[in-house]
Amino acid sequence: MTLTLRQLLAADLYRHNGSIVRAEQYQLRSASMTATSTARSRAYLDDRAHVFHSWSAQAAISPLVVAGAEGARFWDEDGNSYLDFSSQLVNVNIGHQHPKLVAAIKEQAELLCTVAPIHANAATSEAARLIAELAPGDLDMVFFTNGGAEATENAIRMARLHTSRHKVLAAYRSYHGATAGSLTMTGDPRRWGSEPGIPGIVRYWGPYTYRSAFHAEDDAQECGRALEHLADVIMVEGAQNVAAIILESVVGTNGILVPPDGYLQGVRELCDRHGIVLIADEVMAGFGRCGEWFAVDHWDVAPDLICFAKGVNSGYIPLGGVIISRRIADTFADRPYPGGLTYSGHPLACASAVASIGIFKEEGIIEHARHLGEDVVGPALEKMAARHPSIGEVRGLGVFWAIELVRDRQTREPLVPFNAAGPDAQPMTELAAACKERGLWPFTHFNRLHVVPPITISDDDMRTGLAIIDEALEVADRHAAG
Ligand SMILES: Cc1ncc(COP(=O)(O)O)c(C=O)c1O
Repeated sequence: MTLTLRQLLAADLYRHNGSIVRAEQYQLRSASMTATSTARSRAYLDDRAHVFHSWSAQAAISPLVVAGAEGARFWDEDGNSYLDFSSQLVNVNIGHQHPKLVAAIKEQAELLCTVAPIHANAATSEAARLIAELAPGDLDMVFFTNGGAEATENAIRMARLHTSRHKVLAAYRSYHGATAGSLTMTGDPRRWGSEPGIPGIVRYWGPYTYRSAFHAEDDAQECGRALEHLADVIMVEGAQNVAAIILESVVGTNGILVPPDGYLQGVRELCDRHGIVLIADEVMAGFGRCGEWFAVDHWDVAPDLICFAKGVNSGYIPLGGVIISRRIADTFADRPYPGGLTYSGHPLACASAVASIGIFKEEGIIEHARHLGEDVVGPALEKMAARHPSIGEVRGLGVFWAIELVRDRQTREPLVPFNAAGPDAQPMTELAAACKERGLWPFTHFNRLHVVPPITISDDDMRTGLAIIDEALEVADRHAAG
């Protein structure tokens, strides 16, 4: 008989290592228990009983209880330590528990924890000014949100009202968040469960030379054909109906797809020609991840709206936002903006953004990210690609890299099928397990392993992590034809 999680909990039973056991068989562990203890802590039991996790079949998961973290490492309550090569959800750009960032939050908490968004306060004002100063072009005002989804959601609302048009072009192989509009724009399977979404979202293919939707053979061809395709989509949808094109400047979870030189400039030109708002979703790619403050800086392109979150304050307190061009902000000079959030511009979150930006500047973190990409990660991954038959391609910049794994380098058949789960995903599950056994917490998605540790990681820790991945990849090689 299969019992639901609810039935198990009602009967004081728990799933443990694949079997069902009585609650008293668990001991509530104390902090002094050894790493070999299999007892479950109160934190674990309460989690299983009461915490409903994102994107998960609730009875199928067994979350690691994180007890602490510092810099590029975190550890569980049994004392197992991991190099965090995922930066949690690619957001802890500054590293864990940066003492100056923690101190700034404490200081702000003593001063002023919260105010309604109709008021001004020093922390929010300074965060907005600093972010506007960093942003390219005429991006000059900031609407603060609690995270990335609310940022993309508000960005399309602004674009629609500014242009009085309703269509939004969004790319396949993208993620923009999990609220109604942001999930409709999302071009990956996470959207499927919430379809049909909001009206007016039209999809297009972005560039991805390794698996080109346009049968291109190199980056230049891919760039040209992807732009022609986008121009065609605009034509057949009616340019006069298109409010915005949204894109991840460098696609994150869906593959670290770095656009070929000229692509973002080409999209900018199309937008200018047709009066379309260009929205750059930099929730993952921004704030140093790509070795620049914003990924678009790499190509000197100024969007009309930039969505940010994650790296702005490394998630120490939830924060996101939209950086708004003066022209679009002026649309709402005399006409109210029809959107808001109780916690827009939350002082604690904004104080942590101010501190984080200061630390980035003092510690040269952007420069360090660029150095890691150019001198450490890029060369190491090239060497790995030469050695491992399972590696189809490595790509990235800054501290934002993907290792794309294949069964066969000639056919480029992915190591696991698109959106694989369960037994189909076994080779990737084994690879992730091999990394964890060696003390590295990996970020995997479909047939890829992403190299995305905190951008403050030392050269030595980065090399240690890459050596672990190199060793673990032998697991993937066993599934590859060579
Ligand atoms: C590019 C991008 N946009 C938007 C989001 C959504 O952000 P959040 O989870 O903070 O709502 C994410 C999250 O991973 C993201 O990577």
